[in-house]
Amino acid sequence: MNILVINGPNLNLLGIRETDIYGNDTLEELMIWLENSPEAIGHSFKFYQSNHEGEIIDILHDERLWAQGILINAGAYAHYSYAIHDAIKAINIPTIEIHLSDINKREKFRKTSVLSSVCQDSILGLGKYSYLEGLKKLI
Ligand code: DQA
Repeated sequence: MNILVINGPNLNLLGIRETDIYGNDTLEELMIWLENSPEAIGHSFKFYQSNHEGEIIDILHDERLWAQGILINAGAYAHYSYAIHDAIKAINIPTIEIHLSDINKREKFRKTSVLSSVCQDSILGLGKYSYLEGLKKLI
């Protein structure tokens, strides 16, 4: 399976940013761990990180003929980006929403995900294992 992994704004600062919430792994370490997990064997991956909404939409468009499944941690865009919602809906590829933290147990503004309705599932609050559980759901 061709799996597109997209990480949104501020996730490039993993390992530095609010480590009590997001852990000590850098994004690169986390993605290498995911790609080398036993579950990943036999699958192909493309990894992207962007701090820009339009760029995330461009990635979804550009990779739509390659990707057979998508893991997306859209960061704070998950809470309000109807443009990313529309892009996921438009390309019609199985997509799992990922969050390292449990967005339901944090500030009020994080409790809403505008992406969940266009995703097959949302995996929250498992730290790096959110990505692994998301991968398992996809495959
Ligand atoms: C996050 C949760 C979001 O609310 C936050 O804006 C992030 C990270 C998570 O992985 O827990 O940037 O998506």
